Amino acid sequence: MSRNQSADGAELPGVPVIQDPATAAALLSAGGLVAIPTETVYGLAADITDLAAVARIFSAKGRPTGHPLILHVADVETARRFGVLDARAEALAMLWPGPLTMIVPATDAVPREVTGGRDTVAIRVPEHQLTLQVLSTLDGAVAAPSANRFGRVSPTTAQHVIDDLGDILDPDRDAILDGGPCLVGVESTIVDLTCDPPQILRPGGVPSPLLDRLLEPVDGSSIVAATGPARASGMLPSHYAPERGVVLVEREDRETLDPEALVIDRADDPVEAARHLYDDLRRADTSIDRDRSEPIMVVQPPNDGGLGSAVRDRLKKAAAPRERQTTNPTG
Ligand code: TXA
Ligand code: MG
Repeated sequence: MSRNQSADGAELPGVPVIQDPATAAALLSAGGLVAIPTETVYGLAADITDLAAVARIFSAKGRPTGHPLILHVADVETARRFGVLDARAEALAMLWPGPLTMIVPATDAVPREVTGGRDTVAIRVPEHQLTLQVLSTLDGAVAAPSANRFGRVSPTTAQHVIDDLGDILDPDRDAILDGGPCLVGVESTIVDLTCDPPQILRPGGVPSPLLDRLLEPVDGSSIVAATGPARASGMLPSHYAPERGVVLVEREDRETLDPEALVIDRADDPVEAARHLYDDLRRADTSIDRDRSEPIMVVQPPNDGGLGSAVRDRLKKAAAPRERQTTNPTG
């Protein structure tokens, strides 16, 4: 194993950064935590059969326990061991590997420590070659929430994971699998198939009209946005927030703002806006003069629709009032 080295060979303190999926699988089998690359964001993975490792996910993230985790598996056959896939789920599974998480009834193979005591489970097949190799080698499932500390935005590079968890993970047991920057950049779309019609709990990498198109021939049902109390942390009003203030503005209103603010405008390209979203938000924390009481970063959001909807959703939460951030659980 190449310990304490990034992809370009630079020396790094703390937890090992590795590139070999076999090593990652061996660490997971031995009860370690491995930060895994996916097409959306990096996840902090543990083998679901190792409950001590699953418990360490919560302490490493500083996440309240009892919060349900997403299972990551290599393919739809493996998914069927852990979740009951009805006709609608089977139809949507054609989007796997891909940025879609389905909530379905859990089988007995899923320890309820992973689901926060629920009888439903969130499952997806991530689209990243290194991680798919890890999952095939394990021939099981890993639980993996986004690999960020409580209150931080999700990580989309190995360096982001080092920044958040480098000193917290155990250098003797854990590792970061460096698979390069995440190509999608925002989390998976979460669709709850335990209700009728299915509900979107979190907009993400797969746009909802595509889900509609796949579901329609199965039962004519049309997907709807979630209602009622928050069931996913992504449904909370303030969640994906950097430490410094973020404001959203339309281009024409920009002149009215502080000229020293960092301006991010990727509105014309929702794909790029998604890919760079969390790195942009992290820059708000690092590149701004900390003595300034007034913020900030000014962001021009892309239009609704496609990935633009997911980016707008995250930006709205990043710009939500700060007070709420400290009391909310975070993913
Ligand atoms: O793209 C993604 O989904 C990333 C990558 C790593 O795969 N993962 C991710 O995980 O965003 P996390 O833990 O940050 O967000 C998972 C969300 C949480 O809001 C959680 O509440 C919800 O999924 N969730 C998990 N299981 C659930 C269940 N059985 N019922 C309702 N919500 C559930
Ligand atoms: Mg999260």
